[in-house]
Amino acid sequence: MPLLTIETSCDETAAAVIDRSGKVLGQALATQETLHQRFTGVVPEIASRAHVERILPVIDAALTEAAVDPRRLTAIAVAHTPGLAGSLLVGVVAAKTLAVAWQVPLVAINHLHAHLYACQLSAAPRSVYPGIGLVVSGGHTSLYHCSGPLDLKYLGGTIDDAAGEAFDKVAAMLRLGFPGGPAVSRLAATGDPTAFAFPRAMIHDANFDFSFSGLKTAVRYAIAGPGKVDFDSLQISPTTKADVCASFEAAVIDCLVSKSTRAVRSHGVDQLCVGGGVAANPRLRERLAEAAAEQRFTLTIAPPELCTDNAVMGAIGWEKIARGEFAALDLDVQPGLQRGF
Ligand code: KG4
Ligand code: ZN
Repeated sequence: MPLLTIETSCDETAAAVIDRSGKVLGQALATQETLHQRFTGVVPEIASRAHVERILPVIDAALTEAAVDPRRLTAIAVAHTPGLAGSLLVGVVAAKTLAVAWQVPLVAINHLHAHLYACQLSAAPRSVYPGIGLVVSGGHTSLYHCSGPLDLKYLGGTIDDAAGEAFDKVAAMLRLGFPGGPAVSRLAATGDPTAFAFPRAMIHDANFDFSFSGLKTAVRYAIAGPGKVDFDSLQISPTTKADVCASFEAAVIDCLVSKSTRAVRSHGVDQLCVGGGVAANPRLRERLAEAAAEQRFTLTIAPPELCTDNAVMGAIGWEKIARGEFAALDLDVQPGLQRGF
């Protein structure tokens, strides 16, 4: 019998019903994009309230599509770390309540591990292990050595902003809307990536860390100079906007490609997996594919809809079931960065 997966770590309410082979029998996803748009970022309180309203209809829609009797599910797998505390809580409380009501076991999922597992789902039956995993999302930019889906060693990550957050903030400064990543990358495609010499912080450092907050500040100075700025009244030509986006995107991508390929080389592996919302970026995908061809390693990136938050990647729950790793009913959320995982 299938697994029900629940994902509410940030601003997407998602559920999926997945069989043991990884086949998706039903899925539903309610996005909150329009709710957070005017704030140009996810407002945690609004996100958790919206999850409360949506979680049961979303689960119901996934189960209805799959046409399964929930009492016969193998388990309910829920993302409990990392993420926004209030958002994670809604999914975890729903999962625990339904586990009791339907008398089915509970499985706890790490959202970052699930992002990388989306690559395994796309690569199957080929295994993506052992290899390097890069999670690049709105909240995280982290590199791992992955010897299996649940055996990940943290190698390094951002010491300040995540790459996705930088995309969102640059989009906010340019008044491009939220989420910023897709808007910045669309505009970047029409701009000159060499127009602005933005910094590639830490790119030559012999570690696997990243820093994107200085880049964000450099963009701000490039478009508005120092001092107090009213971004609403800032006049920026469409060409300059496109050039800023292209130059910013190139700086982020240079750092991501450089550190992740170095991690591949220095760990004696020949595979790289990339997951998380920023992995949907077409230029990043292209640049990684070029690096993989040149340096002869196998690159796996999930299709864009499996890069951004979704419940299908919760199929990693089957790996936990195979190990007999079930969660107790006092399962709690663990928000925060969880870098060490
Ligand atoms: O993985 P995700 O859906 O949520 C988190 O776990 O954070 O990632 C969302 C992030 C946002 O910052 C969004 O702007 C970024 O992924 N993103 C992109 C693109 N699509 C989404 N960034 C760059 N280019 C894109 N095409
Ligand atoms: Zn995510």
